[in-house]
Amino acid sequence: MTKYGVLVGSLRKGSYSAGVAEALVKGLPEDAEVTQLRIDNLPLYNQDYDADSPVVYTEFRELVAQQDAFIIATPEYNRSIPGALKNALDVASRPYGESVWDGKPVLPASQSTGGIGGIVANHTLRQTLQFLNMPMMTQPELYIGGTPSLSDENGHITNEDTLNFLAATAGQFDRFVKARK
Ligand code: FNR
Repeated sequence: MTKYGVLVGSLRKGSYSAGVAEALVKGLPEDAEVTQLRIDNLPLYNQDYDADSPVVYTEFRELVAQQDAFIIATPEYNRSIPGALKNALDVASRPYGESVWDGKPVLPASQSTGGIGGIVANHTLRQTLQFLNMPMMTQPELYIGGTPSLSDENGHITNEDTLNFLAATAGQFDRFVKARK
């Protein structure tokens, strides 16, 4: 059994990023146990909390620690990743020397309503994941552009080619993860 944690950079109902994450999860094999990790309830990271962390920080870190690997799907906000996602990455990276991301494989995906698929957010995310020492599946690159034309009004991907591509990529990621176990 492989435990996958899923993080979505958007907090919006009907998020296209959530739709991309959902399509990736559909491609994981039956032995995958998938947990959606909430990031909307985490107070902004403050280093003072390292000594005495809010309960939600502790719960989030424990949940992250329990996972074998992560799928992250995010929109691009102003040519970067949303603050909520960066905050979650920061929270579970501390206290110093106790990062629970360390060594855990990750698949980064970005999407945009525009044509370039959130490529800048994707690479901004990759920079942080690399620093966090997370083995990353770098190919194929997941920049999903024009998501409204690929999805229904609730953000679920409906385009067959996109669904097949994302499912195949998730299967490839599962093999990437198992090769590192
Ligand atoms: C955006 N959007 C956007 N798109 C893009 O391609 N590059 C960008 O820099 C930005 N910047 C940006 C900033 C902010 C604050 C918002 C709200 C939106 C558009 C974005 O791609 C679009 O809203 C996505 O659909 C958001 O993803 P979710 O919420 O559907 O997952």
